[in-house]
Amino acid sequence: MPTPSFALPTEAAIAIHVTTADQCKEFLADQPDAVRTWAQVQGFSGGWGQCLTVSTPEGNIDRVLVGFGTAAQRKRQRFVLAAVAETLPAGTYNLSERMPASFDKNIEAYGWLMSQYRFDRYKSSAQSDAQLVAPVGVDRTAIEALAAAEWLIRDLINTPAEDMGPAALQEAVERLANTHDASVKTILGEDLLTENFPLIHTVGRAAGDEDRAPRLIEMRWGSAGPTLTLVGKGVCFDTGGLNLKPGGSMGLMKKDMGGAANVLGLASMIMSAKLPLRLRVLIPAVENAVSGPAFRPGDVLTSRKGLTIEVNNTDAEGRLVLADALALATEDRPDLLISMATLTGAARVAVGADLAPFYTDNEGDAATLSQSAITMADPVWRMPFHTPYESQIEPAIADLDNAPSGGLAGSITAALFLRRFTDDLRYMHFDIYGWNQSNQPARRKGGVGQGARALFAALPNMLKL
Ligand code: BES
Ligand code: MN
Ligand code: ZN
Repeated sequence: MPTPSFALPTEAAIAIHVTTADQCKEFLADQPDAVRTWAQVQGFSGGWGQCLTVSTPEGNIDRVLVGFGTAAQRKRQRFVLAAVAETLPAGTYNLSERMPASFDKNIEAYGWLMSQYRFDRYKSSAQSDAQLVAPVGVDRTAIEALAAAEWLIRDLINTPAEDMGPAALQEAVERLANTHDASVKTILGEDLLTENFPLIHTVGRAAGDEDRAPRLIEMRWGSAGPTLTLVGKGVCFDTGGLNLKPGGSMGLMKKDMGGAANVLGLASMIMSAKLPLRLRVLIPAVENAVSGPAFRPGDVLTSRKGLTIEVNNTDAEGRLVLADALALATEDRPDLLISMATLTGAARVAVGADLAPFYTDNEGDAATLSQSAITMADPVWRMPFHTPYESQIEPAIADLDNAPSGGLAGSITAALFLRRFTDDLRYMHFDIYGWNQSNQPARRKGGVGQGARALFAALPNMLKL
């Protein structure tokens, strides 16, 4: 698989000059006469994403002018270089040294690498791209590592369930672990019962044996520092179970392991950067399938933690498998516990596909994360663990209800359900969508990471590394 990388510096690289709309006049005044005239003829005004290639008399590309827009335009869109890179002819490009003050070279260089992401596993021909020389002042290896993690997230999500079942997800974790000298342990199939992970087994048992069997995948890395545990929802396909999803809602459910993909991406960033912490990743990997052994609406399940759960909807399976994984995570009391999951349709209705909704009771962590999200151009939005809604997850005949009737505040009640399994730990939960609906700069239509980069940037502050 190709990995995202910058081009090596070369004399032949084509210079990219960037200007805001406000400074366009002065910017053009500094350009050679022929370039300025050509820009004026072409109506180049520095508008966001405007891209003008200028040719030499011999017909080669002499330079590229790029518009960084007005302040208002920059609020509406991000990753201008990615927008441009997708339209540039193949070749090697170099950022000119002078850049507008608000131009973030790190984010833009990252965006360029993202513009090169394609999910081409099933394509018979590959495409060649415009390459960027790592800009001066950008930590090439660090940005490439962020990009590699995001490519991993996207590949995992985009791969259809036939080729990304529980066993394939386990192999992906093992590959990542091998690269970084991490260890992996998997509890498979019936062993989930003897080791007391009843909910993971119950949700996954209808999917069959061997490759599709339910499992709990655990990866550990690092030997010193604070302890961080990441839990990711690994539902490799979500049919809804016996409460079968209608076709329109099932179509995209290969992405229901998006939480697992995101925590693996975050783990990849952490391990590449060698953050001084002890990392544990837990992924309950299952398929929510329909067959004779499927669990049923009305069943009452006993979780690892001992809390009983009335199944009011087999389509609320994510919180079930996460509950057992969170209970395990909690047993050795990590300094910080984070879960990521494509948990509810309600989260998407609330904030749309672009924002990653997150929950925490820790004000400091919320502030740190929100700030890092801005720095990293990885937007998040805080949601409330609204305790008065606790009564909604308490049904008549068990401790908990996996699908409250009425369905109001569906993302919040799901988050409250998870919080029940985390004792009083410092806990953060993401209810992400993991999918980009349309082509956008640096984010082609398809699987996408949400919140992992913001978290990566926030960790040093949150864990005092
Ligand atoms: N994987 C889905 C949530 C989902 C659906 C995420 C669409 C993104 C897009 C989850 O397992 C689910 O089906 N949740 C139900 C819960 C309900 C039955 C309480 C939902 O959100 O409808
Ligand atoms: Mn579901
Ligand atoms: Zn699901």
